[in-house]
Amino acid sequence: MKTLITQAEIAAAVDRLGKQIAADYAGKPLTLLGVLHGSLPFVADLMRRIDVPHRVGLVQASSYRGTATTPGEMRIDTNLLPDITGRDVVLVDDIFDTGRTLTALIDCLAAENVNSVKTCVLLWKDRDPAEGVTLTPDYHAFRIPDRFVVGYGLDHDDEYRHLPFIGELPAG
Ligand code: IMP
Ligand code: MG
Repeated sequence: MKTLITQAEIAAAVDRLGKQIAADYAGKPLTLLGVLHGSLPFVADLMRRIDVPHRVGLVQASSYRGTATTPGEMRIDTNLLPDITGRDVVLVDDIFDTGRTLTALIDCLAAENVNSVKTCVLLWKDRDPAEGVTLTPDYHAFRIPDRFVVGYGLDHDDEYRHLPFIGELPAG
């Protein structure tokens, strides 16, 4: 497997993001909301780099991938969602690809009376967003080419999430 981003590069970027979020949210009721399962390592590392008081919660989003022309069905499960009324929420996900997941989550959180919602992703793919998506991530660590990557939470068929680096699977 080809390494695209090393463990040390990830650590440095997460440190940078943590400092930036801490500065932006000092004195605010911040809740980091990790999107399961891909954000697990990222949110766990990021929360320890944000040295202002904050809460951490989880929400689940799964997209059943459709064909190239038909988007898959998006399912959002809010059973684990904490009370975020009046909170300043930062949604944390592994990757911004088409943007459909974070767009759907933001729509879903609109019913929760939050004070604000921003988004933070480790990776932002260099591609056109899906039709109807106007969102761009507020915080991101790396822009990457439009290739399929795994590791540090990102999976292929639920495998490879445990890798401490971001790698590119060989084609085929
Ligand atoms: P989006 O809704 O298209 O922005 O994609 C977000 C979700 O698709 C992520 O949370 C991932 O689960 C998945 N995804 C998109 N690109 C990749 C990739 O290159 N590797 C692994 N998962 C990906
Ligand atoms: Mg996935």
